[in-house]
Amino acid sequence: MTTLLLAVGVVFGVAYVFHHVFVRGKQCTSKAMLHGKTVIVTGSNTGIGKTTAIDVAKRGARVILACRSKQRGEAALKEVVRESGSNQVVFMQLDLGSLKSVRSFAETFLKSEPRLDILINNAGLFLQGRTEDGLGMMFGVNHIGHFLLTNLLLDRLKECEPSRVVNVSSLAHHFGKIDFDCLNTQKALGVGTTYMEVLQTYSDSKLCNVLFTHELAKRLQGTKVTCYTLHPGCIKTELTRNTPTMQMLLKPLTAFFFKNAVQGAQCTLHCALQEGLEPLSGRYFSNCTVKELSAKAKDDAAAKKLWEFSERLCGLA
Ligand SMILES: NC(=O)c1ccc[n+]([C@@H]2O[C@H](COP(=O)([O-])OP(=O)(O)OC[C@H]3O[C@@H](n4cnc5c(N)ncnc54)[C@H](OP(=O)(O)O)[C@@H]3O)[C@@H](O)[C@H]2O)c1
Ligand SMILES: *[C@@H]1O[C@H](CO)[C@@H](O)[C@H](O)[C@H]1NC(C)=O
Ligand SMILES: *[C@@H]1O[C@H](CO)[C@@H](O)[C@H](O)[C@H]1NC(C)=O
Repeated sequence: MTTLLLAVGVVFGVAYVFHHVFVRGKQCTSKAMLHGKTVIVTGSNTGIGKTTAIDVAKRGARVILACRSKQRGEAALKEVVRESGSNQVVFMQLDLGSLKSVRSFAETFLKSEPRLDILINNAGLFLQGRTEDGLGMMFGVNHIGHFLLTNLLLDRLKECEPSRVVNVSSLAHHFGKIDFDCLNTQKALGVGTTYMEVLQTYSDSKLCNVLFTHELAKRLQGTKVTCYTLHPGCIKTELTRNTPTMQMLLKPLTAFFFKNAVQGAQCTLHCALQEGLEPLSGRYFSNCTVKELSAKAKDDAAAKKLWEFSERLCGLA
């Protein structure tokens, strides 16, 4: 009996230490307070977006929860207010899969809010299909929606400098590629629907996030608006909700190997808040540490081409 108890104890002990050392990752150590500052977090009704919103609200920021569902957004609003003890939290409807919705969000925001200090492009999905504008779903939501949003809010960010844009990408970008032929003909990064094809398209969309941060940093040189992109870690969230098989397969692993949503928000918070990060504008972070990117993720020509393609698609050019 004692041996059994001891064995169980050892297993839990090892699991705890393992989780602490290898899974949890570094914490954001910034003590920055945000009174008088305004932060937008996209996709903040669940997952790491919600925990990010709670953290910045606790620091005194005025927080805009930019979510597509009114019902889920308003439920999150109540929770963020309760958890943070702040009443400076607002819900504003934003569907990144609709260029019209992005424009109307920006218009409402710019009319009603005088400041924008930090824009956190967090929303993302793992789902093949088409947006209401006929774009590939992941290209449209993970990339184009945020592209247009960032561009429409750029002047306000400049007025409030020093300000920051943070793009939540993923380690998956390593496997990404940009197929410009497919973009030109299909307005999508990939159209296949097998599991591997969806995974490929997701990775492609996350490569877009990294390339855009690279190009935007260049375009923002000489201003005090800086931008960062990051891999948040592997986190237990709703991201796999559209792929039940994947969710089922991952289940036994997530408890042990994946971060929770608070741990998963740390790298985003680091990029949004850490003092002195400005010289690293345009760079990629993981585990609250700047990391080198592979050549394809800082390919100047591809970044520029994608930027111009995206501008035309959004009617910005
Ligand atoms: N979880 C991980 O292991 C992991 C790893 C690497 C990177 N990431 C990245 O982290 C970010 C956050 O993901 P998460 O894990 O927290 O996932 P999540 O729990 O699924 O949350 C994603 C959020 O994005 C929102 N969203 C989806 N489509 C949208 C649209 N068209 N317009 C506006 N909002 C939309 C969702 O809103 P609804 O609730 O209305 O759908 C939800 O609030 C994503 O960019 C993801 O790619 C996650
Ligand atoms: C994060 O960095 C810390 C300190 O540099 C390191 O001890 C830890 O193993 C890293 N964690 C992950 C998940 O990479
Ligand atoms: C974030 O990613 C989006 C989509 O890829 C892009 O349009 C936007 O310019 C990026 N912003 C920053 C600061 O990287």
